[in-house]
Order: sequence, then C-alpha cells, then structure tokens
Amino acid sequence: MPQTPTSTELLAAARAARERAYAPYSNFAVGAALLTAGGEVLTGSNVENASYGLTMCAERSALFTAVSAGHRDFVTLAIAGPDGTATTPCGACLQALSEFGDGLRIVRDGAAEVTLRDLLPDAFGREMLGRARI
Ligand code: THU
Repeated sequence: MPQTPTSTELLAAARAARERAYAPYSNFAVGAALLTAGGEVLTGSNVENASYGLTMCAERSALFTAVSAGHRDFVTLAIAGPDGTATTPCGACLQALSEFGDGLRIVRDGAAEVTLRDLLPDAFGREMLGRARI
C-alpha cells in the first residue's frame, strides 16, 4: 500500500500545479493539492479570464476537480504561491471547502499549519438552512 504523502510532498504537488496556472492578469500563480482520506492527491491551479470576475482560484479548482472525481472526504490542502510566500485561501475558497468539513489541515509555505476552522470559525453551513425562513 502506498504511503500517505507528507506535507512536504503535498507542497511539492502544489508547486507542480502552480506551473500550470493561467494568471496573465495578476501574474500571481497559485497551485493547490488536496489529499483525500483515501490517500489520493488532486491538484488545481488558478485560471484567470479577461473578464476578471470569472477567475477561479487554485483551491477551488482542486476542490471541484476532486469532488467531480467522486471524493468528499479531505484531510489536507497544500497551497503554493509565489516562491516562499505563504498564500492563504481567500474567503470564497474557505467557504467552498467548509462544505466538506472544517477540520481540513492547511499547509502553506513558511507558515504554521492550521485548520480550516482556525481560518473560518463559525462558518455558514447547511444546518443554518434548516432554520425558519420568512
Ligand atoms: N488566488 C488563488 O488562486 N488562491 C489564493 O489563495 C489567493 C488568490 C488567485 C486568484 C487570482 O488569479 C490571483 O491569485 C490574484 O488574486
């Protein structure tokens, strides 16, 4: 059985994904690697657009790729931004990731490991949809 990838290996996968980023407008290339509970690694990169608002972040690229491939149980997300710069997922990505649990470990270059819960405490979630509506 293959070994579970280490944080260092996940960061390397994120760096490789970063090479495939399409970021001609911001020149801020990002790669992400998401480790599933089953030990698989799915990656994503940011994809920008001339209509700027259509840009997709690396983290959501990885998440949507993983979910589309049938994965819903995630352990660790590694993010690689410009060399040596700790890149933290944006609020939209944190919210999208929180749909699948807030215990996700987040690994960044040169920053302490945190969980999704640390970065987005008390997130909006499905349980809130059950409350009374007008
Ligand atoms: N970006 C990501 O892909 N992930 C992050 O964590 C931060 C921001 C992208 C979006 C955009 O293409 C560029 O970085 C600059 O904001």
